[in-house]
Amino acid sequence: MRPLAAGNWKMNGHQASVAELGALKDKLAAASPACDVMICPPATLITTFSDAAAGSVIQIGGQDCHSAVSGAHTGDISAAMLKDAGAGAVIVGHSERRADHGETSELVKAKAQAAIDAGLVAIVCLGETLAEREAGDTLSVVHAQLNGSLPDQAAGATTIIAYEPVWAIGSGLTPTTEQVAEVHQAIRAGLSALTSAEEAHRIRILYGGSVKPSNAAELMAIDNVDGALVGGASLKADDFAGIIAAF
Ligand code: 13P
Repeated sequence: MRPLAAGNWKMNGHQASVAELGALKDKLAAASPACDVMICPPATLITTFSDAAAGSVIQIGGQDCHSAVSGAHTGDISAAMLKDAGAGAVIVGHSERRADHGETSELVKAKAQAAIDAGLVAIVCLGETLAEREAGDTLSVVHAQLNGSLPDQAAGATTIIAYEPVWAIGSGLTPTTEQVAEVHQAIRAGLSALTSAEEAHRIRILYGGSVKPSNAAELMAIDNVDGALVGGASLKADDFAGIIAAF
């Protein structure tokens, strides 16, 4: 399965940041990456970025969507709107949204389903907090999130999972190879039970949390790691290209 390097820009970037996307586009045109490449900018930049990425390998995604198709939801954005703006995918259930906006797995599942219904690929995020890991609850937490958040239409063509330990996000800390392998293996097994063994092997499982050029090759070599969801290091074309080159 072809891996994916996806960059989550979070709440960073203005119209002028399209220059960074242009720099990445130039680097990738010269390098022919061995993975799919995606940037998920803030919603305000999706149209600008998708126009700028045209003709390149770079796909554009959103960072969140509402579960409804349209309606009285001030400040929210539907999956169809993201698609209309040029996105091909959307992140749902990022731990920052689960924590900051109280998003439950039930809501994340509804968002993922809305995304797929609108023709987007849903990137469903899972991950334990440090307290949950220290209590020995990592696998049960991740399983509960997977069971609760996986859309009914989950398949390789519609759904990507991102395992992001909350304590590794933006902290410079990364789990050990064994810890990543254990959770990704458990997610694969969970996907098999929820879909089928064949389909579970078509669904990419990304690792996210302090991925950088210096650790990307090691992380991406772990069994059942099918790519990366990158925060901070995706904001700079040089760093993100360095991660992409590790595939
Ligand atoms: P960092 O790569 O900055 O740790 O962020 C990871 C993340 O949350 C991507 O969604």
